[in-house]
Amino acid sequence: MRTHYCGALDATHIGQDVELCGWAHRRRDHGGVIFVDLRDREGLVQVVYDPDLPDVFHTAEQVRSEFVLRVRGLVRRRPAGTENPNLPTGEIEVLGKELEVLNRAETPPFQLDEDDVSEDVRLRYRYVDLRRPVMRDRLLLRTRVTRNLRRYLDDHGFLDIETPMLTKATPEGARDYLVPSRTHAGKFFALPQSPQLFKQLLMMAGMDRYYQIVRCFRDEDLRADRQPEFTQLDIETSFLDEDGFMGIMEEMVRRLFSEVLDTALPDPFPRMTYAEAMRRFGSDRPDLRCPLELVDVGDLMQGVEFKVFAGPAADPHGRVAALRVPRGGERMSRKEIDDCTGFVAIYGAKGLAYVKVNELAKGREGLQSPILKFLPDAAVQGILARTGAQDGDVIFFGADKAKVVNESLGALRVKLGEDLGLTEPGWRPLWVVDFPMFEWDETADRWMALHHPFTAPKAESLDALEENPAGCLSRAYDMVLNGTEVGGGSIRIHRSEVQSRVFRLLGIGEDEAQEKFGFLLAALRYGCPPHGGMAFGLDRLVMLMSGARTIRDVMAFPKTQTAACLLTGAPSEVAPAQLRELHVRLR
Ligand code: AMO
Ligand code: AMP
Repeated sequence: MRTHYCGALDATHIGQDVELCGWAHRRRDHGGVIFVDLRDREGLVQVVYDPDLPDVFHTAEQVRSEFVLRVRGLVRRRPAGTENPNLPTGEIEVLGKELEVLNRAETPPFQLDEDDVSEDVRLRYRYVDLRRPVMRDRLLLRTRVTRNLRRYLDDHGFLDIETPMLTKATPEGARDYLVPSRTHAGKFFALPQSPQLFKQLLMMAGMDRYYQIVRCFRDEDLRADRQPEFTQLDIETSFLDEDGFMGIMEEMVRRLFSEVLDTALPDPFPRMTYAEAMRRFGSDRPDLRCPLELVDVGDLMQGVEFKVFAGPAADPHGRVAALRVPRGGERMSRKEIDDCTGFVAIYGAKGLAYVKVNELAKGREGLQSPILKFLPDAAVQGILARTGAQDGDVIFFGADKAKVVNESLGALRVKLGEDLGLTEPGWRPLWVVDFPMFEWDETADRWMALHHPFTAPKAESLDALEENPAGCLSRAYDMVLNGTEVGGGSIRIHRSEVQSRVFRLLGIGEDEAQEKFGFLLAALRYGCPPHGGMAFGLDRLVMLMSGARTIRDVMAFPKTQTAACLLTGAPSEVAPAQLRELHVRLR
């Protein structure tokens, strides 16, 4: 029905007759002439209707926003002074000679160029929302990203293999979405939280290199960068160690950024241990664009009178840390400093002490703080020296369980970095390595796998693992970009006895291990190669690359924060007969 995309026209087409199809983005009547901005996937072009052609002109008068049109016309240069340098087609226009209304449209629920449309309305009318150039550009970027990643993996000998959606629960730490079985009364499939075990089985099957762009399902509390169904670029390889595998992945991401965003990422990506990341940034996904860092001061607070600091300083699970904000005293008002207390409270911090450094030369007199009176000179001098304090700075303090201090000051550093303009532009990828193998779960009263239970330990011997689970590191690695975990993975356990002992350490008994993972334990005994891999959060990667603020903005049909689809009304009730067939009765 057409010869060109609207957005593809430019001065090289001047003098040509073209046929176009698209949506009426805008119609303007200008002293006897009608302008219709015609829009399609590739962009927008101005079509002009002259009263000299009365039939066509009359049809143009009927056109309203979002009517679907077919146009024939002559491409010509816009009259001098009417060019639009902001539009790729802004040098030209199309003089309309024929016009067919392919379909009328009701008044759209919102104007496409409105900025403050509520997300609920956008999601309900997603097909209109996706017509907006900004949304269209994000989806176009997404397909360029997947095409680029696929090409790299295809070129490097990876096989694209599908894995089941109706499967058995795989533990990745979230709740499962369950599907009742009609043919097996009382039994359920789980939708995969990831293809983890299947991709390991593919290595055992000798496939050597696997990838899949695959939907994963996790019923967890949602945030800006979490959706109940999301997409992974899932990868697994055999006979590679960490360095070999991470090198291939890094190269893939470097090439992606270079070819799609024309940006050079560092070669190699820096690596940081988990311990260092927590110590300096309070986070295992540090945003290296922000120069602020946490500094430990617990040793200076041993036995001080101020219990708020002395308590955590003496607690092996506690932490007392300082965060110096250069010239924070000048950049932040008193109220802004006080508001930070409310911000850290979100992360469970019970307070946020601070010292304002007015004039170092004056000693205590030159400092301003609600806690100074509780601290001896040695502690105060120690803090100033260790943080490198200078006149005009503010130093914040967190004292609590290490987890609370890390989460609260870690988030505060990112927030202040952005609010105060300290965060530098650009791309700062890194690998975080040497994760602990286990973490103690207070509520469950047992060890949990920090990554997942199939990750190989670094420990030389299994006895070492059992003697000191807390001290054992794993062979896991995360790729972090600008404060977001874009991917994570590990070298896996490939020996059956190691896997059994790790299950036992995690409190998974012999029977439970057989029932849940018997197929894996068996497969490990029939010739399993050393293997490892990782999965990228594709939505997160595209979110970062497109500058979107949530992954919802790079998904065509996302769910709301309460995991519902406003467009279709899912989830919804089903007919009683359907439930009966599935052997399900509602409470
Ligand atoms: P993991 O659980 O770390 O690892 O997931 C891999 C990546 O997926 C992204 N991600 C999400 N994105 C959007 N919404 C979610 N709810 C969500 N959850 C995770 C993150 C994360 O880095 N099987 C392992 C991988 C492996 O070991 O190979 C796994 O799934 O970007
Ligand atoms: P208080 O003695 O509770 O009034 O606290 C004195 C100062 O210490 C206030 O500035 C509090 O914000 C701060 N503070 C209280 N608890 C903590 C904590 N856990 N970590 C850091 N600062 C705290």
